[in-house]
Amino acid sequence: MNDRRIVLECKGLSRSFGSGKLKINVLNELNLAIYHGERVAIVGSSGSGKTTLLHLLGGLDKPNTGQVLLMGDDLAKVREKQRCRIRNTKLGFVYQFHHLLPEFTALENVCMPLLIGRMPAKVAKVKAASILDKVGLAQRHQHRIGELSGGERQRVAIARALVTDPLCVLADEPTGNLDKHTAESVYETMLQLNEELQTAFIVVTHDHELAAKMQRVFTIEDGHLAHVERQDI
Ligand SMILES: Nc1ncnc2c1ncn2[C@@H]1O[C@H](COP(=O)(O)OP(=O)(O)O)[C@@H](O)[C@H]1O
Ligand SMILES: [Mg+2]
Repeated sequence: MNDRRIVLECKGLSRSFGSGKLKINVLNELNLAIYHGERVAIVGSSGSGKTTLLHLLGGLDKPNTGQVLLMGDDLAKVREKQRCRIRNTKLGFVYQFHHLLPEFTALENVCMPLLIGRMPAKVAKVKAASILDKVGLAQRHQHRIGELSGGERQRVAIARALVTDPLCVLADEPTGNLDKHTAESVYETMLQLNEELQTAFIVVTHDHELAAKMQRVFTIEDGHLAHVERQDI
């Protein structure tokens, strides 16, 4: 059972792009509350607004109307510099295409958010090594990203997202580029880390089987979020 503290919440969230006849309303007054340590899946067809929603929840984009609250604080009301700091320390991001630095080692990539947060390099290395071990890459610390498989790269990306002990990880189709077997094993690792670290996860996926492993599942359709009952996943 998750504790009932809300870590991340959106209220009346709307986002449209373009104007006049070309205007598209992607999200219409969405409400969603994510609880401490919870794992939530969001499914929806391509173009339904999943990435747009994650960007808004992560403070990477601003809504036209509505609010995103992280531990009760409105992300739009803080200055850009502080928003960056919040993103760096309180949230973690995982993308479909890992967005790691290919010329750097797994360890160096995972250290990056800590170094940006001005943690001394020695301490950062210890922390990064420990989380790499947890994602199953104990033997891969010194490998460059270019030398790793797709699944291993996503594990590094998960480690990088978790290394700052964030409240919530936002993952945008993190296994979308992997074969089924690898996707399942990467997913299992995320579930284990969710249990162990009590970090909340919001995961966008196309895969309904993987979505079913989460505690709550939502779909986005026509700009609205709908809760999916377990038997309908
Ligand atoms: N920066 C943008 N400018 C214009 N249109 C955008 C922008 N970002 C997203 N869109 C449009 O919003 C819709 C939802 O996109 P997106 O959130 O990426 O969908 P999904 O991640 O579910 O595939 C799409 O029609 C897309 O073309
Ligand atoms: Mg997307």
